[in-house]
Amino acid sequence: MAATTPPQAPPPSDSVVIRLARGEDFEGIAAILAQAALETTATFNIHPRSADDWRTVWERTRPFHPWLVAEAGGELLAFARAAAFRPHDAYAWTVEVSAYVAPAHQRRGVARRLYDRLFALLHLQGFHRVLALVTTENAPAIAFHERMGMRRAGHIDRIGYKFDRFLGIAVYELGIQDDHQKPGPILQVDQVADESG
Ligand SMILES: CC(C)(COP(=O)(O)OP(=O)(O)OC[C@H]1O[C@@H](n2cnc3c(N)ncnc32)[C@H](O)[C@@H]1OP(=O)(O)O)[C@@H](O)C(=O)NCCC(=O)NCCS
Repeated sequence: MAATTPPQAPPPSDSVVIRLARGEDFEGIAAILAQAALETTATFNIHPRSADDWRTVWERTRPFHPWLVAEAGGELLAFARAAAFRPHDAYAWTVEVSAYVAPAHQRRGVARRLYDRLFALLHLQGFHRVLALVTTENAPAIAFHERMGMRRAGHIDRIGYKFDRFLGIAVYELGIQDDHQKPGPILQVDQVADESG
C-alpha cells in the first residue's frame, strides 16, 4: 500500500514573523497572487503575473509604499501592501491597502497582524487616509476590513468583469491622522521602519 503523507499542520501563530518584503519573497508572493487571480474574485487580475514582474513593481514603489510579509520557518504565508491610490498630486496623503493570506493559513490572525503593522508604518510616514477596495461578494474580506475598524464609505456596482459576470466593489476608509493638521511631507518607509514595531 502506498504511504500517504499526513497534511502538514500550520506553524503556531507565535512563530509567524511580520517584516518588510525582500527581493527573494517574490516567488511566494507571486504564487499567492496567482491562486487569487485564477481561482477567486478577490483580485480583478485575471492573468497571473510573474515573480519578476511583481518584484519590479516592488522595486519601483517600496521607498514610499510599504510591502510586508508574514513568514514562518522560511515559508511565505501572506503579504500586505500599500499602494498609491491615484497619481494626481492631491492624493499624495492617501493609500490603498490590500492583504493576501495563503488559504492554508487564513483565519489565524495573520492579516490582522499585517494590517496593524502596515497602519503603524503608514501613520509614522504621515499618510492621512487608508482605502481598501473590496469585491462586494468577497465576504471574508468585507468582514476582515470591518474588523480592522474601516468604515464602508460606499460601493460601485458592476465595475469589473471576471468569470463571466460583472462584479462590484465596496470602498472602505480609515483616517490614521488628525485631519485638522495640515498634511506634512511623506517620509520614506526606511525612515520610520524601526519605530513601527
Ligand atoms: C481577507 C483575508 C486577507 C483575511 O486574512 P486572515 O489572516 O484570514 O484574517 P484574520 O485571521 O487576521 O482575521 C481577522 C478578523 O477578520 C474577520 N475575518 C477574517 N476572515 C473571515 C472569514 N472568513 N469570515 C468572517 N470573518 C472573517 C474576523 O473578524 C477575524 O477575527 P476573528 O478570527 O477573531 O473572528 C483572507 O481571507 C484572504 O487572504 N482572502 C483572499 C484574498 C483577499 O480577499 N484579500 C483581500 C483583498 S482587498
